Amino acid sequence: MSLEQEVARRRTFAIISHPDAGKTTLTEKLLLFAGAIQIAGSVKARKAARHATSDWMEIEKQRGISVASSVMQMEYRDCVVNLLDTPGHKDFSEDTYRVLTAVDAALMVIDAANGVEAQTLRLLEVCRARNTPIITFINKMDREVRAPLDLIDELERTLGMDVAPFTWPLGMGKDFAGVYELREDRMRVFRAGEDRISGDEEVLQGLDNPEIAGRYPMQFETAHAEIDLVRDAAPPFDEAEFLAGRQTPVFFGSAINNFGVKEVLDALVDLAPPPGGRPAIQRRVEPTEPKFSGVVFKIQANMDPSHRDRVAFLRVCSGHFERGMRMKVSRNGKDIRPNNVVTFLSQRRELLEEAYAGDIIGIPNHGTLQLGDTLTEGETLQFTGLPFFAPELFQGVEVRDPLKTKQLRAGLEQLGEEGAIQVFRPLAGGTLLLGAVGQLQFEVVIHRLKTEYGCDARLEGTRYTMARWVTCDDERELKRFIDANAHRIAYDAVNAPAFLATMRAELKVAEEKWEKIKFHAMREHA
Ligand code: G4P
Repeated sequence: MSLEQEVARRRTFAIISHPDAGKTTLTEKLLLFAGAIQIAGSVKARKAARHATSDWMEIEKQRGISVASSVMQMEYRDCVVNLLDTPGHKDFSEDTYRVLTAVDAALMVIDAANGVEAQTLRLLEVCRARNTPIITFINKMDREVRAPLDLIDELERTLGMDVAPFTWPLGMGKDFAGVYELREDRMRVFRAGEDRISGDEEVLQGLDNPEIAGRYPMQFETAHAEIDLVRDAAPPFDEAEFLAGRQTPVFFGSAINNFGVKEVLDALVDLAPPPGGRPAIQRRVEPTEPKFSGVVFKIQANMDPSHRDRVAFLRVCSGHFERGMRMKVSRNGKDIRPNNVVTFLSQRRELLEEAYAGDIIGIPNHGTLQLGDTLTEGETLQFTGLPFFAPELFQGVEVRDPLKTKQLRAGLEQLGEEGAIQVFRPLAGGTLLLGAVGQLQFEVVIHRLKTEYGCDARLEGTRYTMARWVTCDDERELKRFIDANAHRIAYDAVNAPAFLATMRAELKVAEEKWEKIKFHAMREHA
């Protein structure tokens, strides 16, 4: 197969949702329909196994949230589908943001009883900022949920997007009869059950088919009126609008009953775009360029506690990756030649032979690779768009046992590079500062320091409430600024200097006094 064909058959997307909407269930069913797993239950079982083997996942269990994101690859029809999971909890939104920079589309799962929820909105804003195309799945139609017209209306209002229904539900809860496929003009009859897969559902053709009206008189009457309305009022599906992130196709279903799942998977293959070009500082890189390039969007330490490894997740952006090939890290010009690069086929980590644009590969390393790193076959390239946000919450961190200071530093260095938390080293010395966007990040870090690094750390209050990275075109001016403000300067994981303030007014004063210095609330890469 040619490089062009390989790229054209890739689909890389993330699932986004508010916790409990059914993301895990849907993920599992997508894998099931793609034939990547044989029986339902294995994703959940794996979730459970992780809980058992990894202590820090207890936090996830206790709070019923999905802390870590993961990657799954499957083949469906002629396509290679890469699915990236995202943490649902808002305190991990930075991690999610970075995952979303690695996908070409998103699948949004909505709980039909709850409609659009807070976390869905936040994630959606991230997608909108990047014009990521979004497919919507309205889940749990087998429950007593909100009226479908209501849901559609809310989607349009809160998401600020046009909605193009592809299916329409007949009834809900115990009266859920199935969905009407608006484009195919047929009804797919609902039957409860987890073990069904494609090919065995009953289909009734045509809206005026007397059998539909006869078998489901109540549901049909309402649905018929709604469908007429939707056909009149809703905009037709417009591919260009969808690809620009301004219109979302909507599907109704019940993930737990395997219902409506195949339609979503087909939509991903038929509607979602293959990998596109990507901006780098130097130039734009096209996915079909023969030379390999990729960007590290996520680093995870100790994925498997029994191995104590550290994996850099890299999205291939162009060319062809082959096992054993030499790659250059653009940040420092170093060559690496990893032999044990892994892919994430159906839940297992497997050695990877080759990969193309859109694929996600995992490179085990010991700190050589950092978030935002660009790898190439030699050309110096730096992909843009992988941001770090200035933290909004700060805590000092100390070890209870002074003899463990080394472990603390080592642990924080790794967790900082992973992006789990931001670590600031005050220029004046003293307590390390942790910066986070969400409170839960602190808890996870303290927990992980203990379980993964054997280091009993405690948090201490700090007066700082803001940090701004500082840069200046004039190196000497920057040095003067740093020297004059030494007690307020701290360095982050990649040694970028930041100015710390206890309140906004202080920042304002500094900005006015030091005109040439630039203060940034966001940093892109080292
Ligand atoms: P998440 O990853 O988005 O957090 O959601 P998850 O799939 O874990 O689903 C959350 C709950 O919703 C689970 O119930 C799950 O079984 C249920 N669920 C998912 N899809 C459907 C659906 O189509 N219909 C109905 N009725 N329920 C659905 P739970 O009781 O919290 O967990 P469990 O005991 O079933 O594992």
